[in-house]
Amino acid sequence: MPESRGQWSGRIGFILAATGSAIGLGNLWKFPYITHENDGGAFVLVYIAAVIVVGIPIMMAEILVGRRTQLSPVGAFRTLAQDRPGGGLWSGVGFLGVVAGFTILSYYCVVAGWTIHYTGLALSGRLVEMAGDAHVLQDYFGGEFLASGKHQVGYHLLFMVLTTSAVYFGVKGGIERVARILMPVLFLILVVLVIYSTTTPGFAAAIDFLFRPDFSTLTKGSVLEALGHAFFTLSLGMGAMLTYGSYMGRDISIPRAALQISALDTVIALMACVIMFSIINSANIEVSKSSTILFTTIPTVFAKLPGANLITAMFYILIGFAALTSTISLLEVVSSFAIDELGWSRRRATVTMGTAIAIFGVLNALSLGASSTLSAVNLIGRESTAGIFGTMDYLASNWFLPVGGLLIALFAGWVLGVRASREELETGHGEVSGFQVWRFLIRFVAPLAVGAIIVSVILGKEYQ
Ligand code: PHE
Repeated sequence: MPESRGQWSGRIGFILAATGSAIGLGNLWKFPYITHENDGGAFVLVYIAAVIVVGIPIMMAEILVGRRTQLSPVGAFRTLAQDRPGGGLWSGVGFLGVVAGFTILSYYCVVAGWTIHYTGLALSGRLVEMAGDAHVLQDYFGGEFLASGKHQVGYHLLFMVLTTSAVYFGVKGGIERVARILMPVLFLILVVLVIYSTTTPGFAAAIDFLFRPDFSTLTKGSVLEALGHAFFTLSLGMGAMLTYGSYMGRDISIPRAALQISALDTVIALMACVIMFSIINSANIEVSKSSTILFTTIPTVFAKLPGANLITAMFYILIGFAALTSTISLLEVVSSFAIDELGWSRRRATVTMGTAIAIFGVLNALSLGASSTLSAVNLIGRESTAGIFGTMDYLASNWFLPVGGLLIALFAGWVLGVRASREELETGHGEVSGFQVWRFLIRFVAPLAVGAIIVSVILGKEYQ
């Protein structure tokens, strides 16, 4: 008799867990720096459009496939595709998701581990001390810290232990419980930091930068980057939302949930931008357009403001919490595969998979010192040639997620029957007035948009 698969306690439990998956380093780290690189306003608008037109429809598709089958990705596609064109091949989409989960987690956890170290540095006052001189901090991060195998491996493993423990205790007892505690705290810290940032002299300029679009700065590359980021930040394209959807009760509305998760994710990404640009604008320093802002520039600026130690520590705790609820969802995709497909117990699945990913991640962690270049530290794509770390990241963000997303959209739009998808979207919702709009977006708009990302990667014109 297999163990029961578990279920969320209800709508709030699902929303918190799924929002926890969505909100992560993508929101707090990547979005601010790509917004900075792409000159603000217009990029933000395009990103919001990408979330609405591509992100939300694909999220609905993933959740509906998960809930309909009550299975993790591989089994879900296999079951629904049974007597459809392509048949069993579709379960490959599920496998792709498992591989993506494994890959992303093995480097995501390394970066997530840094937040533990930086929280400690902040609390001890050392960070603020170092931050007095921007160069000292830069050297510390890029030189000493990244090169220290002991630190890199240690924090990575610690973060993997936290992640594995949560997943070990199951859907309700582990994943949902952690999200119920961390998500409200995360939101509270964000609100405190936003309020704090309104008191800084750079606040007005930050709002201006974010919300006054200047379309003349927009390039084709930025449009594709916004689109690619929508995938990453909403945890789409690798079955995370599908897996979470498989634990969802039939009394919950999928369209409403997808809308709420995406809205929360976007609001929080914007809040992160407000905080970061306010404090950056408050200091008269040149900010490099780099992915390492979070660990180099930000503390420098915080150091000049009142209450530096505490505020900086809160900031890193916030990022750590956000990352943890995301790593949990990544491990859940991999573990639920072993549970559903290999018939393993949850304990065996989480411990085995957690250990395998941890070991793989150690290679990533160690490659940072070896490559000794900051460009390796890049959560998505660009310049990502240095070290295994960069390769993993490049593979995941430029290939796995877009290809997975494209296939999921094609599956939901063209393979799964219209009756089945309508029925599932209406379950727990009632009549879905925008059904035809969803269907149009998932059949045509999403595949074309995601296809454009893939084509540009193939042509080597990296959109980033
Ligand atoms: N959405 C997470 C973030 O923004 C990353 C993630 C991607 C998590 C894919 C799960 C699956 O950081």
